[in-house]
Amino acid sequence: MNTSIDSITLVHPDDWHLHLRDGAHLAAVVGHTAAQFARAIVMPNLKSPVTTVALARDYRERILAARPKAGAGATFEPLMTLYLTDNTSAAEVAAAKASGFVHALKYYPAGATTNSDAGVTQLERAFPALAAMEKHGLPLLLHGEVTTPGVDVFDRERVFVDSVFAEVRRHFPALRVVFEHITTREAAQVVTEAPANVAATITAHHLLYNRNAIFQGGVRPHYYCLPVLKREEHRRALVAAATSGSAKFFLGTDSAPHPRHLKEHACGCAGCYTAHAALELYAEAFDAAGALDKLEAFASFHGADFYRLQRNTGTVTLQRMPWQVPAEFTFGSETLVPLRAGESLAWKLA
Ligand code: DOR
Ligand code: ZN
Repeated sequence: MNTSIDSITLVHPDDWHLHLRDGAHLAAVVGHTAAQFARAIVMPNLKSPVTTVALARDYRERILAARPKAGAGATFEPLMTLYLTDNTSAAEVAAAKASGFVHALKYYPAGATTNSDAGVTQLERAFPALAAMEKHGLPLLLHGEVTTPGVDVFDRERVFVDSVFAEVRRHFPALRVVFEHITTREAAQVVTEAPANVAATITAHHLLYNRNAIFQGGVRPHYYCLPVLKREEHRRALVAAATSGSAKFFLGTDSAPHPRHLKEHACGCAGCYTAHAALELYAEAFDAAGALDKLEAFASFHGADFYRLQRNTGTVTLQRMPWQVPAEFTFGSETLVPLRAGESLAWKLA
């Protein structure tokens, strides 16, 4: 990697946690990701979740059809995941492994977030699938929050660490696990202390913001995501983990588009849209930490190594060049408000 003050060149990065949606919404956003990343782990939480290999095959075809037809984005590769339910069978897991295009299964606690009603209601119900995943070497991707009534929304991840995460580790010690979009010191610590088969993704927004961002002069729905932004001490712990050089931590944007009217709503949807400027936002966070030299491994090496995929060839270059983020994007028949809409970013992908 070549680091100078005003320009960084990285091996082509991948996004290890992404929401692409479907139909006109998919068509509206896939170009942003394809312009920046070679590959992405695509989340399966469609309105009708992607629970089988057959559904994942069809969804993959729709993503490929929606990719840019020319330019760098034309070779963007979606890496598919299945949505784990109480009823996912060992046979489906074996078929996922055999498919070659399904790379992981995603655990959502039922009711935790967008389109999670079909999620796991009790971990034991997923044991046959988890045993098959451990056997076949398919990673489990964890949405790490408990949804038990009575648990404070800011404590949902910390409680998950000591309950569901601990249970998964105890029963399936060889299972490869990605603790997705970690938001707390406790999650960073438990991943750091675990063996090499446990890793975590970290979003750009959790590196850049603490929970004050949601309440800056009024309610700011475009900073509302799940797991929700936490206190400054947690943001600092995430920055320390991401810039540590540890192979356990890698880039996953959790870019999660929702139409403007459903974000700016009496009961607004969770999700920050960051695909339009993902690498720029990560560069800002690493730059602020004085750790631009750690960005390439985080963005381009650690995830591929964990997923046992080849690292990409080719490079991308970020330049220090202020530019203004558009106020909104077209999103099918609706509009989409990106993170930092109308504001300036210091870095720009060349
Ligand atoms: O903020 C979020 N948005 N968190 C999630 O876990 C899901 C995502 C979405 O799909 O909108
Ligand atoms: Zn997500």
